[in-house]
Amino acid sequence: MKIRDCFEKASSCMGKECPAPCRMVLDNVADGIVAMDKGGSIVWFNRAAEKITGFSKEEVLGRPCSNVLQTDLCGTDACPLQQTFRYHRNVANLEVRITNKWRRETPVSVSTALIKDNEGNILGAVETFRDLFMAEAHPFGIEEQSSFKNIVTNNTRMLSILHHLRDLALSDSPILLSGESGTGKELLARAIHELSRRKRGPYVVVNCGAIPDTLIESELFGYRKGAFTDARQNKPGRFALAEGGTLFLDEIGDLPLETQVKLLRVLQGGEYQPLGGTETLRADVRIITATNKVLLDQIKGGRFREDLYYRINVVQIDIPPLRQRREDIPLLMRHFLERLNLKRDKTIGGLSPEAERILLDHNYPGNIRELENILEYATIVCKRFQIEPRHFPPYLLQAKEKSPSPGEAAPPHAGFDMAEMEKEELLKALRTHRWNRQAAAKALGISRTTLWRKIRKFQIVS
Ligand SMILES: Nc1ncnc2c1ncn2[C@@H]1O[C@H](COP(=O)(O)OP(=O)(O)OP(=O)(O)O)[C@@H](O)[C@H]1O
Ligand SMILES: [Mg+2]
Repeated sequence: MKIRDCFEKASSCMGKECPAPCRMVLDNVADGIVAMDKGGSIVWFNRAAEKITGFSKEEVLGRPCSNVLQTDLCGTDACPLQQTFRYHRNVANLEVRITNKWRRETPVSVSTALIKDNEGNILGAVETFRDLFMAEAHPFGIEEQSSFKNIVTNNTRMLSILHHLRDLALSDSPILLSGESGTGKELLARAIHELSRRKRGPYVVVNCGAIPDTLIESELFGYRKGAFTDARQNKPGRFALAEGGTLFLDEIGDLPLETQVKLLRVLQGGEYQPLGGTETLRADVRIITATNKVLLDQIKGGRFREDLYYRINVVQIDIPPLRQRREDIPLLMRHFLERLNLKRDKTIGGLSPEAERILLDHNYPGNIRELENILEYATIVCKRFQIEPRHFPPYLLQAKEKSPSPGEAAPPHAGFDMAEMEKEELLKALRTHRWNRQAAAKALGISRTTLWRKIRKFQIVS
């Protein structure tokens, strides 16, 4: 018997018909399993192995093990597979770090064993490996983990940020969060507030890019009655509203230069004057800022004050884009799927291997928000237990055809309106089932109460 037959057909284990093919069992265990023939070429690769290494089964079949499970033991006598093949010695729970497809290291515990047939002839060897990340001492304690429950990551740089977050939060210094759009700056800003001594105080967000230049100053610092024609009474600014708490200034790079001067004064002396007022107010506010622009370029272009930059940049946290932390994609997929199942009252179990591969290979110019949107779209369209490629927004499949190589910019992210899509889906199902709500709910894979809720939300009338 060939070892490949043993794994691929798996229909006659020990001479009996196998009711559930072994490969289904093998594909559903958490440990990575790789089987090699006598020559050391890979003949079987389970789904956990795909997840841990980042390679698909198709990519690795027939290749030598050392091409795929790259460790510092490869090519040395200490290689567990060499030990097994050469000295017929099984190896158990050897801790090594493998480098995955995206050049990231993952700690794993490796075991190897020979595979023999009933006559004792060697068919090949099997190597199993367990992802040790979860088992490794987690950098935060139980209590902290709950504060971080919405920040999902397995990336070394992100973990190091989270590791220091409590100390940074307690320091009360201004923090500048930089990173591309959708990388989680806002999520991190809130976590900092919640970890700080100001957590019981207010948390106020101002999107500097969304407020017209003419209004931003009065929005931040407030105004006094009569300051301008429409100022009929005193109005507190966001600084006053954030008193004793945290003020998060998003898109700080968009702040007009005149307002930058005033902000600098608050940061230097802790004082400001509302528009049209003569009295000076003291501000007890912690400032967190965020930008997806490179502020140093803005300074060079004369659009951002250098002195303000050094005031807000006492601590800078640079959040890496998703394409530089691809190991987070499977974790985020699971995280969003759980949340979306709850939100949309669905019971989607997971993604098909092809759908998963598309998401693992995509470049994510829109970062985590883009992944979240793709899954939200898919959970609306998918009426079954498993998400398939056809449930993805069309632009993603077009992007796949063009297949950008890792590191290369992907095609622009085509936008889609989730609410509009959801309404369309709802109307389609209702029309198809002649407005029979029970049948429409069933077709949509949601309960009748959820359907009712949606009909009310979208104000659909039959
Ligand atoms: N590590 C993470 N774990 C779970 N969800 C995340 C993570 N990072 C970001 N998200 C989610 O992704 C979405 C985008 O994050 P967020 O709004 O914080 O990004 P941003 O950097 O502020 O983007 P922008 O620059 O466009 O304002 C949010 O729904 C957020 O909850
Ligand atoms: Mg944001």
